[in-house]
Amino acid sequence: MTDAKTLVQAQFGANAAKYSTSAVHAKGASLQRLVDLVQPKPAWSTLDVATGAGHTALAFAPHVKRSVASDLTPEMLVETAKNAAARGFSNVETAAADAEHLPFGDATFDLVTCRIAPHHFPNIPAFVAEAARVLKPGGTFALVDNVTPDGETSPGFSAAELDDAGAVYNAFEKIRDPSHGRALSTSEWRAVVGDADFEITHVEHCPKAMDFETWCKTMAVAAPTVPKLADMLDTASPALQAFLTPTNAGGKRGFVLTELILIARKAI
Ligand SMILES: C[S@@+](CC[C@H](N)C(=O)[O-])C[C@H]1O[C@@H](n2cnc3c(N)ncnc32)[C@H](O)[C@@H]1O
Repeated sequence: MTDAKTLVQAQFGANAAKYSTSAVHAKGASLQRLVDLVQPKPAWSTLDVATGAGHTALAFAPHVKRSVASDLTPEMLVETAKNAAARGFSNVETAAADAEHLPFGDATFDLVTCRIAPHHFPNIPAFVAEAARVLKPGGTFALVDNVTPDGETSPGFSAAELDDAGAVYNAFEKIRDPSHGRALSTSEWRAVVGDADFEITHVEHCPKAMDFETWCKTMAVAAPTVPKLADMLDTASPALQAFLTPTNAGGKRGFVLTELILIARKAI
C-alpha cells in the first residue's frame, strides 16, 4: 500500500461516521441528479467505487438487482453496511477494493459509479481504465467529482490565472485533508475518460455550497490550521474568488465548490 493510500485509510477511518450524516454527501443535489441521468434498469448489477458511507450505492439500490459498494477504508464499509441495513436493502453488498486495482472480473457490471472521491486517487487514469475493464460492453460510467477551474467553468481568465487558482484550490483541500491528492479540471477529465474505452455522453456542473466550519470539522482540522484556511479564502486571487465565491457573514464563512457530473458509455 502506498503512503497516499495509507493516509486515505487513516483520515477516513478516523472520520467515517461523519460521512453517514454529512449533508453534502447524503443529500447533495448530484446524488438524485446522477440517478435521473443514468436511468438504471431493474436487471442491472452495479458497482460504486470509493463508496464512503454508501450514499451513491444506496441511491441506486432501489432501482437495480445488485448494488456492490466498494471502498479502500474498512470503517467506511462498516458505515455502508449499517446504512444499507437501516434502509432495509437486501441487494447491497460491500467489498474492500482499491479503485486502481478493482477485484472484479472483466465485463461484470452494467454501471460503475464514483462520486466525490477520485481527487484522492494517486493514478486517476488507472482507475478509469479499471472502470472500463469491469464494465460490460455498452455499460455506463457515471462520475461526480469536485473540479478545479478551467475555461469551461470560469471563462474570462487566462490559462495561467486558472492554473494558479487550481493549484491554490488543491493546496487548500490538502491542508484540510492530507489524503487529498489532486482534483482535475473538467478538460482534464474529458481527456482522461476520452483516452479510455469510453464515449462521453453527458457533461454538466453542479454548484455545492459549503459551510466552512462544517467542512473543517468533518476532517477534524486542528484548531491552529483553521485560520490559515480562512486566510486562503480571504486572500484568494480574482480567478479563485470567482470560482469559490467565498462569503463571510459575521464570521460565518462559506464557499461554493463545483462538482462535475460526467456520464460515459463503454464501447460495444
Ligand atoms: C468523500 S468519500 C466518498 C463519498 C461517497 N462516494 C458519496 O457519494 O457519499 C471518499 C472515499 O474515497 C475512498 N477512497 C480514497 N482513495 C481510494 C482508493 N484508492 N480506492 C478506493 N477508495 C478510496 C475513501 O476511503 C473514502 O471513503
